[in-house]
Amino acid sequence: MTGAGALVLGIETSCDDTAAAVVGAGGEVLSSVVSSQGNLHARYGGVVPELAGRAHLELLTPIIADALGRAGLAGGRGLRAVAATTGPGLIGSLLVGVSEAKALSLAWEVPFVGVNHLEGHLFAALLDHPEIEWPVAVLLVSGGHTLLVSMEGPGRYRLLGQTLDDAAGEAFDKVARFLGLGYPGGPAIEAAAAGGDPEAFTFPRALAGEGLDFSFSGLKTAVVHAVRRRPDASDQDVAASFQRAVVEVLVAKTMSAALSLGARGVCLAGGVSANGALRDAFTRSAGGLGLPAYLPSRAMCTDNAAMIAAAGHWQLEHVGPTGLDAGADPNLRLPLLA
Ligand code: KG4
Ligand code: ZN
Repeated sequence: MTGAGALVLGIETSCDDTAAAVVGAGGEVLSSVVSSQGNLHARYGGVVPELAGRAHLELLTPIIADALGRAGLAGGRGLRAVAATTGPGLIGSLLVGVSEAKALSLAWEVPFVGVNHLEGHLFAALLDHPEIEWPVAVLLVSGGHTLLVSMEGPGRYRLLGQTLDDAAGEAFDKVARFLGLGYPGGPAIEAAAAGGDPEAFTFPRALAGEGLDFSFSGLKTAVVHAVRRRPDASDQDVAASFQRAVVEVLVAKTMSAALSLGARGVCLAGGVSANGALRDAFTRSAGGLGLPAYLPSRAMCTDNAAMIAAAGHWQLEHVGPTGLDAGADPNLRLPLLA
């Protein structure tokens, strides 16, 4: 068994998932526990920050105990480090994880490592694909962010494009809410789309062929207008056509970025990359270009603490521990190469 000194406990509380995980230095996930607050927020149609913070407070300690137990550890003394997400995210939620991580680091006398949530997502694919060759074009699509990044290796990122308005996940959530499909919207749209015709509606592909930035707010408005014009249209057809429009733009821009970079592969990250239609189209397009597609397992796409622990290992090795005076930053950005 891996000695505790090679293990990092990761903690993730940036939004509405409370998560803890124990990961080895070689990326072995010994445990990864995620408690989604989806039910708590569903009746409001979105995340209510005050409720999220309070739920993290209640859930985090037992979830950490569960993650340690599943990894075969009785406690955390002797771990390599405790890593927690310091941003971006909801401040009240971030503070719960950061405070707990610092307290545990003091109690167990092990280093604290503050991890950028976006960087954590970029480490998710590495957990399943340690063989990645650099550089890769990474499409990071979550509820709060849509970024196209050239990743030259861990810690080496160049921004190629980003959304000018809504994030891709946000578009899924808003359209699902409009159609009354529930929260979180991504899985609900995917389920509805499975029974629909993706060509029933021709929704706009914003900024298609125009650089590497994205725009999704017009698409959401187009869906609203289409449904008002054809109130008898099936939700399945609307969902499938909407999903097709999002996926096409995401895939086309990532492949075009990969070609212009001379990338050695393409990689997906973030909650929206759990979407089956996106995964299929991404893999197919990359295959057509002769490029390997690196996809995180579905569980590693949405928020989890294993990706935070993995980023924590790397950071401890290459940057060092984080001071206990460091705070949480709701607007933290991905650190980019100059
Ligand atoms: O990465 P994530 O768990 O949290 C953030 O950092 O935002 O991403 C959550 C987002 C939500 O917008 C959710 O609707 C979307 O990812 N999502 C999906 C799917 N699963 C989650 N979008 C499309 N299809 C899915 N299967
Ligand atoms: Zn996330």
